[in-house]
Amino acid sequence: MNRNIAVIRGDGIGPEIVNQALLVLKRVAELYGHTFTYTDVDMGGCAIDKWGDPLPQEMLQKCIESDSVLLGAVGGPKWNDVPGHMRPEKGLLRLRAGMGVYSNNRPAKIWPQLADASPLKESIVQKGIDFIIVRELIGGIYFGKHETVEENGEAVSIDELRYTESEIERIGRIGFETAQKRNKKLCSVEKSNVLDSSRLWKKVMHRLAAEYPDVELSDMLVDNCAMQIVKDPSQFDVIVTENMFGDILSDEASMITGSIGMIPSSSLGATGCGLYEPIHGSAPDIAGKDIANPIGTVLAAAMMLRYSFDMAEEADCIENAVSAVLDAGYRTGDIFSEGCKKVGCTEMGSLIIENLKKG
Ligand code: IPM
Ligand code: MG
Repeated sequence: MNRNIAVIRGDGIGPEIVNQALLVLKRVAELYGHTFTYTDVDMGGCAIDKWGDPLPQEMLQKCIESDSVLLGAVGGPKWNDVPGHMRPEKGLLRLRAGMGVYSNNRPAKIWPQLADASPLKESIVQKGIDFIIVRELIGGIYFGKHETVEENGEAVSIDELRYTESEIERIGRIGFETAQKRNKKLCSVEKSNVLDSSRLWKKVMHRLAAEYPDVELSDMLVDNCAMQIVKDPSQFDVIVTENMFGDILSDEASMITGSIGMIPSSSLGATGCGLYEPIHGSAPDIAGKDIANPIGTVLAAAMMLRYSFDMAEEADCIENAVSAVLDAGYRTGDIFSEGCKKVGCTEMGSLIIENLKKG
């Protein structure tokens, strides 16, 4: 199969981790007889430096025309003082919106080899952690009007949070469909005791529930959900929630699995062209030191094969290789524990490649 992948290395540790993921893909292509071609795309701080824009239109176009996009991470302190509409993160938001990827899927699953790295008590971890957060990605407060004005001699900032019924419905359907493929439990998370947008969210979810009688729908307020995720994460199968709540809860969910460095994500819309990225950021403090964990990005590449290219065997092959490397005791610094062998980013990538075995 021939596939063209748009590659966004981005900032900070982005280039290092993406390079390892590309080496993994190269080996997978050799093993399974595929041809992957790559189109480099500048986005984030590096695009601001080079083009004066975090995502020039022609870069977005390259992504839309690709078969899928693999992204490292963007942002860093160097661009902290640029105006809001020019920040590196704005490039990412424009990419998500431009690609129309409204559904962001973030799995929170504990790797048994890393159970020790979870900050939760063993008794909680042992009950199992295996859920997925379906986060609405191109609506809500991230995409409302943002402004800072002066009123009565002081600055006032306004961030608008709006959701249309149809935006809620399309992500709701992804939530129900995801639950149908798993343990058929969907928890809709909102703040309906305060927000209008959340009351509409809840109403739409309950309307949809009638169409998915095999799925058990529950509601949870977001503050309670934040508590329940650390108290008893085993209760969750699929969580569906709006953009900002999903941003926050998915960081929390990743942390209880041991390391944010391990978690990939997929963002999908109406077409097969998806955006695949680790959920962690650009970690500028460790950039260029060859110590970052490339596993989140490698697993994002595996998700791309599975969900956009229909290559389940190839995706399994990558995931099994990661598991084998963890079994053998190799760890990057973020997931290191006593008795393991500490390796850097490049070595972790090479170990994964050595363990790629055609099933
Ligand atoms: C994420 C990140 C982004 C987000 C930032 C970088 C804009 O935190 O993907 O979770 O908030 O969506
Ligand atoms: Mg985030």
